[in-house]
Amino acid sequence: MNVVKSPLPDTDLRIVAEALQGALVDLVDLSLVAKQVHWNVVGPRFRSVHLQLDEVVDVARTHSDTVAERASALGVSPDGRASTVAAGSGISAVAAGWVKDSDAVGTLVAALGAVITRMRERVAATGDADPVSQDIFIGITADLEKHHWMFQAENA
Ligand SMILES: [Fe+2]
Repeated sequence: MNVVKSPLPDTDLRIVAEALQGALVDLVDLSLVAKQVHWNVVGPRFRSVHLQLDEVVDVARTHSDTVAERASALGVSPDGRASTVAAGSGISAVAAGWVKDSDAVGTLVAALGAVITRMRERVAATGDADPVSQDIFIGITADLEKHHWMFQAENA
């Protein structure tokens, strides 16, 4: 079903659609991982890490909505189903159970790093095909890199 007409030619649209869908999956998983750790963190730094993790949840949820709606605006149906997220996320699975605060910070350093690497690839891939979507990826990358810095600083 082709409901929304895309402003992009097919070759460009394919590149951008893959980038937006990949970003959606990564960001939904980032929001889930951050919540999982938010609930399970323990240790002397509980309070600050617990609160900081919800900031990541907010950023990931906001940006997942932005990329999904950008896909829709281009005529591409976004897929945020749990099975799709589980199959396509670039973030390593998080173990069940309580997480020591320093391990929680390390988990976020790794998760953010993985998503940032893939987001920068999307920035590079979409510049010619659709600078509007590229601009979205650039903004997301800046936000994620800010949080990546802060988590790295906490475990230094
Ligand atoms: Fe909470």
